[in-house]
Amino acid sequence: MDQILVRGGVPLRGRVVVRGAKNSALPLMAAAIVSQEPCVLHNVPCLHDIFSMDKILSSMGMRIDFTGQSMTLDPTALNSSEASYELVRKMRASFFVLGALLARFGKAKVSLPGGCAIGERPVDIHLKGLASLGIEIRIEDGYVVAQGKLRGANVGLDFPSVGATENLMMAAAMADGVTRLNNVAREPEIVDLAEFLNAMGAQISGAGTDLITIVGVPELKGAVHEVIPDRIEAGTFLIAGLATRGDVTVAKANAGHLESFLDKLREMGATVEARGSDIRATAPNGLVAKDVSTQPYPGFPTDLQAQMMVLMCISQGTSVIRESVFENRFMQVAELRRMGADIDVQGSTAVVRGVSGLSGAPVMASDLRASAALVIAGLIASKGETRIARVYHIDRGYERIEERLASLGADIKRRRE
Ligand code: UD1
Repeated sequence: MDQILVRGGVPLRGRVVVRGAKNSALPLMAAAIVSQEPCVLHNVPCLHDIFSMDKILSSMGMRIDFTGQSMTLDPTALNSSEASYELVRKMRASFFVLGALLARFGKAKVSLPGGCAIGERPVDIHLKGLASLGIEIRIEDGYVVAQGKLRGANVGLDFPSVGATENLMMAAAMADGVTRLNNVAREPEIVDLAEFLNAMGAQISGAGTDLITIVGVPELKGAVHEVIPDRIEAGTFLIAGLATRGDVTVAKANAGHLESFLDKLREMGATVEARGSDIRATAPNGLVAKDVSTQPYPGFPTDLQAQMMVLMCISQGTSVIRESVFENRFMQVAELRRMGADIDVQGSTAVVRGVSGLSGAPVMASDLRASAALVIAGLIASKGETRIARVYHIDRGYERIEERLASLGADIKRRRE
């Protein structure tokens, strides 16, 4: 298994281009299932999670060509509405094919994703919503077996789940009649999916608000679409720059998608400039502690919580971080403590007392964002080397992170094993 080796203490400087959003590209790929014709996605990141979705769709007969950052998905030979446990267990987002399969075939058999490191992550909201749209659902041997004729309905979500909103949008796009989805997720990735489906001929309005209205249409055609920039990747690079007292600009980003995060950086004392699609953040004199509470969009993103915690570790004063989206998302804490961080966790709250620096240590990545946090901690540590094991987690969501950080001046390399 590969390791990442970091020698910290070097201020990162320069410009790094943000890739397309993983969390947009995955549901967009699934959405090609509902099209009658080939679709093209541009700005698709080259990531393990994208390859996992490629495998699932290919197993159903989708023909996929992924060259450079462009992907053609040809659904004309789709012949299966099943997604096996072997494929789904690797990535929870595979479950997002369920709604699209129902729209296309009127039936689907998709493995339940199971738990994951950051929490239980059930799919009850997805299933309840699909049942309201007229789908009969049974759980058999670990699989969701679903079938029925999709009929428009009013559906209220118990929580604005991102994946459930996406599954329901894809299902309702071809339902008979009008669907109103209430208390839905408002993430930019939801808006991106609505725009792609609308380009295929769907009639979806209200994406980005908590009420989405969908007028079902009988057929969808091919479309060409550009994936939005990855706001989590942009935030991660900005934090890495600030944590090393450097000067990093992220290019091809969208500051409008990162408002609560950028506001928090400003509150902590950073200077943040957003010009066109560039965002630059600096804090040559360091940062002061502030409290953060993760929330569904437009609140502070849970996917930036672990990285932000590292910044808090070296800010002046004490910060309180409340994780309110996932129940077990402080996996990075034990490893950060081994690097000299002063953090106490009680339930979903972490109290982070700023220290003057961190020191390098061998650490273990446990999930995608926690591993990004460990890399940033390694970049801070001016004493010793940080060796991060199990970097396959990081490869799920960051494209060649070590090369891109090295281009900003970091002393970082991958050891292939
Ligand atoms: C998506 C993102 C993930 C991000 C998360 C929250 C993708 C591929 N992944 O995940 O990176 O961290 O949004 O912003 O887009 N829940 C239920 N029942 C359900 C569904 C969800 O209880 O049926 C709970 C989950 O356990 C979790 C919370 O709702 O505690 C949020 O989950 P959700 O918004 O569904 O996250 P995902 O779509 O899985």
